[in-house]
Amino acid sequence: MVRPSGPLSGTVPVSGAKNSVLKVMAATTLARGTFTLRNVPAIADVTWMGDLLAEMGMVVTHDGDTVTIDSPDDLRPEAPYELVERMRASIVVLGPLLARFGRARVALPGGDDFGPRPIDMHVRALEALGAEFTTAHGYIEARADRLLGTRVLLDFPSVGATENTLMAAVLAKGTTVIDNAAREPEIADLAACLNRMGAQILGAGTSTITVEGVDELSPVEHAIVPDRIEAATYLAAVGVAGGEITVQGARPDHMSMLVQKLGEMGMRISPDPDGLWALRSQRLRSVDVSTLPYPGLATDYKPLLVVLLAFADGVGIVTENLFSGRFRYVDELVRMGADIRTEGHHAVVRGVERLSGAPVRAPDIRAGAALAVAALGADGETVIADADHIDRGYERFVEKLQALGADVERLD
Ligand code: UD1
Repeated sequence: MVRPSGPLSGTVPVSGAKNSVLKVMAATTLARGTFTLRNVPAIADVTWMGDLLAEMGMVVTHDGDTVTIDSPDDLRPEAPYELVERMRASIVVLGPLLARFGRARVALPGGDDFGPRPIDMHVRALEALGAEFTTAHGYIEARADRLLGTRVLLDFPSVGATENTLMAAVLAKGTTVIDNAAREPEIADLAACLNRMGAQILGAGTSTITVEGVDELSPVEHAIVPDRIEAATYLAAVGVAGGEITVQGARPDHMSMLVQKLGEMGMRISPDPDGLWALRSQRLRSVDVSTLPYPGLATDYKPLLVVLLAFADGVGIVTENLFSGRFRYVDELVRMGADIRTEGHHAVVRGVERLSGAPVRAPDIRAGAALAVAALGADGETVIADADHIDRGYERFVEKLQALGADVERLD
């Protein structure tokens, strides 16, 4: 439950990035031995990825923000439907399992609230490396005696397809060049971990990644990069509630476009030795927003930006360029009194001074967090149902907001 709050003040720490740790956990299937991952966020998705690794035969131990993963000689290279259905990101075990064991069987992920989420690019890229695919009974099965390096040109800089290809190419014979690769900081983090394991990857974080295949990789210790989307959530919270906060551990270099956009809206944000300092002292101005692959504005920031525009002075046009149906939470915001119209990939947001608290439902992780942020500027109480979506991606969400002075509590 969230009540009107603000001005916020204080320091909030950022946890490790969900979209990095899940892939790094998948990468531990590439080598035998014991991995130590640090700065791991305590979120449901990490637990589920741990369950998936355990199901395959690995031993996963959590101790605070450290996760130890013991990878035996042999694994069952299979991701069952129950786990893939819960967490689509499980698809990233396909590439590494195929590379190490010559085969992988992974349940086909269905669509979700964002619309259909195909894996055709993942499959085409792995086929280019020599894999053969069959599908039956809701599972996709890949086989390859030894993957062979080649040039892979992605139709679109897909994050997941880039990661699957990268984790397959590290053990392929010869050189793989991934063109039109996704450039997200989480991909650079995954590549840093793989390189430490003995892989030979150049160019991760740019649109051309070159991988020289090696015969074997070894286990390592790796610290996960901070979560830029979580950091953005606390910036949005101060954007709605006003005040002055420090987002500790945030990486300004990973969030340049967002910081620029929030600056255009009238927030003051600067890098600080601790992370990012942010101040919101007057009503924000509307801007137009268009999501793009990194370094463009991340689609995951969008619900937060829509919430900021819902309170801003003027009209902002929001264009979604990555997913088809990522506007579900808009209906909930409208129930809270926001003035938003959607048309296909666009939303027109006309700012109002205050929203009005209402019972709402969290449709997914980021939209759920965005509804909580909106509620900070809504009169009365907002009760968010299905708030467990938020726990999939946010560590101690309620406690962190409380520490900034927000009036938020978790209801059982
Ligand atoms: C990742 C992130 C997600 C983020 C998204 C875009 C994780 C766990 N999730 O998701 O939070 O919103 O990047 O930044 O890291 N597509 C195809 N065919 C494919 C693959 C993708 O058509 O084979 C399409 C998708 O439907 C979507 C677009 O490409 O429209 C981008 O998807 P992608 O970058 O692959 O996102 P994910 O890796 O699923």
